[in-house]
Amino acid sequence: MQELSFARHRRLRTSTSMRALVRETSLSKDDLIYPMFVIEGDNIKNEVSSMPGVFQVSLDNLEEEIQELVNLGIRSVLLFGIPKEKDEVGSQAYCETGIVQEALRKIKRDFPEIITVADTCLCEFTSHGHCGVIHEGDVENDPSLDLLVQTAVSQARAGADIIAPSNMMDGFVTAIRKGLDEAGFKNIPIMSYAVKYSSAFYGPFRDAAESTPQFGDRKTYQMDPANRMEALREAESDIAEGADFLIVKPALSYLDIVREVKDRFNAPIVAYNVSGEYSMVKAAAMNGWINEKDIVLEKLTSMKRAGADLIITYFAKDAARYLDERE
Ligand code: PBG
Repeated sequence: MQELSFARHRRLRTSTSMRALVRETSLSKDDLIYPMFVIEGDNIKNEVSSMPGVFQVSLDNLEEEIQELVNLGIRSVLLFGIPKEKDEVGSQAYCETGIVQEALRKIKRDFPEIITVADTCLCEFTSHGHCGVIHEGDVENDPSLDLLVQTAVSQARAGADIIAPSNMMDGFVTAIRKGLDEAGFKNIPIMSYAVKYSSAFYGPFRDAAESTPQFGDRKTYQMDPANRMEALREAESDIAEGADFLIVKPALSYLDIVREVKDRFNAPIVAYNVSGEYSMVKAAAMNGWINEKDIVLEKLTSMKRAGADLIITYFAKDAARYLDERE
């Protein structure tokens, strides 16, 4: 028989050490940002029913939570707030004593080395659950910008290290950059939710943040999952407006977009591994259908391979433990 000629790819897969030698992508604790839900009130630590292992915590329980992160080697958190009172214009989002502002002050006092990222949006603070102000049944762009600027500036004043606007109003980076600069925060970066799809994967988050829209949906401001060019237009505008980081959200169903944004724009790219992506893994693992550890590490590694420099993930604590076990 004539000898076959082909490449022997298996040569580089012969042992654990050989595979480690040629591994192209690595996952580190420094890549991870842990989202947290801070709620007004005392002595609260409520597990979110659709997100096992994720809690709404009150300020008095925050220190313990952050200490756990520090012990695990996680150094960045993304903060969401749940106020007692909501109103039409989300005033608790930009109140100097709002829940996020208080949480920022507390974290920066107790753990100055922790990077605090403040989610800048109104939906957790408005009675109607939309990300901006409502006029005749629609979310109005420009009046919402004014409130977002106030929110961002009050968060910076309270000690936010990074501002992360997630509301998807047009022009939010321009408006917030100007507002921060004028208030003396030229060095506070903006991590923009540049490419944010209108996604069913946010379902469990809305339980956690108590931010389900009371009428309609977010399709007039968040993006259509079918669109790719639109993602590039969004990212291009945000870079032009001065964004320092670009977020693509959700992550897993949008890794093609992560790759494209990474190839085209020279800014750190952040993949947001959202709530639904978390809950689905937890549910399957609780049923014994999958190996949670392997699935989590595979998913997070795939986001890095697609081009994400950083990952916002509810799995940050689990992943830190898995990474320790692997070492
Ligand atoms: C606020 C916001 C949302 C998420 C992050 N910031 C929800 C939404 O747009 O409804 C979703 C995060 C997740 O699902 O983990 N606008």
